[in-house]
Amino acid sequence: MEKDLKENIADSLEIDKILIPHLPYLLQDLWALGSSPSKYSRICKKLNLDKNSRVLDLGCGKGAVSIAIAKEYDCNVKGVDAMHEFIEDARVHAKKNKVGKLCEFEVGDLNTALQFEREYDLTIFASLGPILGNFDDKIEKLRKTVNVGGHILIDDGYLKDSVQTGKSGYEHYADRETTIKLLSKFGDTIITEVIYTDEETNKINYEFLHLIEKRGNELKTGSPELLHSINNYLKRQKEECEFIDEKITGAIWLIRKNSD
Ligand SMILES: C[S@@+](CC[C@H](N)C(=O)[O-])C[C@H]1O[C@@H](n2cnc3c(N)ncnc32)[C@H](O)[C@@H]1O
Repeated sequence: MEKDLKENIADSLEIDKILIPHLPYLLQDLWALGSSPSKYSRICKKLNLDKNSRVLDLGCGKGAVSIAIAKEYDCNVKGVDAMHEFIEDARVHAKKNKVGKLCEFEVGDLNTALQFEREYDLTIFASLGPILGNFDDKIEKLRKTVNVGGHILIDDGYLKDSVQTGKSGYEHYADRETTIKLLSKFGDTIITEVIYTDEETNKINYEFLHLIEKRGNELKTGSPELLHSINNYLKRQKEECEFIDEKITGAIWLIRKNSD
């Protein structure tokens, strides 16, 4: 795996690069990796997706979001993720959920996918943290993948107050007003904004934390050489939960592309 790609994966999951090969073990109890598939599915109701629609799920992980959308709307979904183990899981889940024919899962770098994936009705960018940088860079890249009249769904967040935190991995956050301005910078319309309550965000983050703590502790017992990295990872994850609770409000934005 290339260096930049490893960095992207590590950033998106806030993990030391050395633990990347152990991610499938650490995350085995989770299907959705920080996202809210049923919420997105509800939000997408107004888009009239159907069997002729094409959806792109960037950094799709184990396919929880792709599969929820394909099941609900009978539409075609392509998911791309750099972790081949996650893509294999996604294929198995799709078959189990009887949407194997609607879902195509591909191992790949989303930065490469962004260069040639075009003409989608909906592109999803869920829980991918700082990948693609600031919101204006992000939206510029994402909007190229959809048709005029198509939509982009972003699950991320904004600063609770306007003070920049300076925390690594959180540099792309701005206050809500600035974030909205950046997201609509190219004349697009934010048609839906769903704000997570702090309780919802905590539930997602702390459930994640407890499951990886359990698997991390098992991994340390079996592979003592990983003890230091795992302890660091678990400590950082706990700090992240506290930091997000204090500084970040989670939000989902559904944006309609109005022009090329
Ligand atoms: C926090 S998970 C979110 C996964 C999925 N969207 C979900 O919510 O279930 C981040 C995912 O992004 C993937 N990822 C990170 N950088 C990537 C890149 N450059 N190209 C493709 N996938 C990437 C990771 O492998 C991981 O599966």
